[in-house]
Amino acid sequence: MIIAVDGPTASGKGTIAKALAAHFGLPVLDTGLLYRAVGYQTQLNHGDPDNAADALAACDFPASLLDDPALRFESTGSLASRASVHPQVRAALLQRQVDFANQPGGAVLDGRDIGTVIAPHADAKLFVTASPEERARRRHAEMLARGVDVSFDAVLADVHARDARDTGRADAPLLRAADAMLLDNSDMDRDAAIAAAIAFVEERR
Ligand code: C5P
Repeated sequence: MIIAVDGPTASGKGTIAKALAAHFGLPVLDTGLLYRAVGYQTQLNHGDPDNAADALAACDFPASLLDDPALRFESTGSLASRASVHPQVRAALLQRQVDFANQPGGAVLDGRDIGTVIAPHADAKLFVTASPEERARRRHAEMLARGVDVSFDAVLADVHARDARDTGRADAPLLRAADAMLLDNSDMDRDAAIAAAIAFVEERR
């Protein structure tokens, strides 16, 4: 069984993907991490993520980079979003994701284009979202808890900027697949959102 979980930044899609993987006993891939590694490696190379050649060169990042805590930084998410606009970068990361999706036994993948590009044949597709304000509120609380001193307005501005870039790009934009279940968790807590996701996937088995 292949499960595709797509959605915008800070929507809770990673949490839901991990919960589905644990529930159904499947391996999970956070594809955003691959784009984050490319964005971060571009910076390590003193390159510019807006430059396609610089971003493409960074697709050769060492596997160990995927464990680097710096990939989780908010600033790395922005670098990733800029690097991921280039079709060359998306092409370079494609096969690895397709292979993960199609491994025997199935898999869960979360990202932006799993249900549309990476695994259009997925057995269950979810589009996880929440209002920009709610996503910014959660991200802001998370950052304050980690001791990052940032204003709510700055976080909300970043959420809007990332949404605009991820939705507006020409190649593999963030898009709800026609056959994806819309899971808007603006008014749901974590457990309710996970329960709704599991119930949906159970129906598709
Ligand atoms: O999901 P996460 O916030 O870690 O992703 C970082 C960035 O990587 C996103 O803003 C998006 O631009 C890009 N990305 C993508 N396609 C994916 C996953 C992430 O373009 N499948």
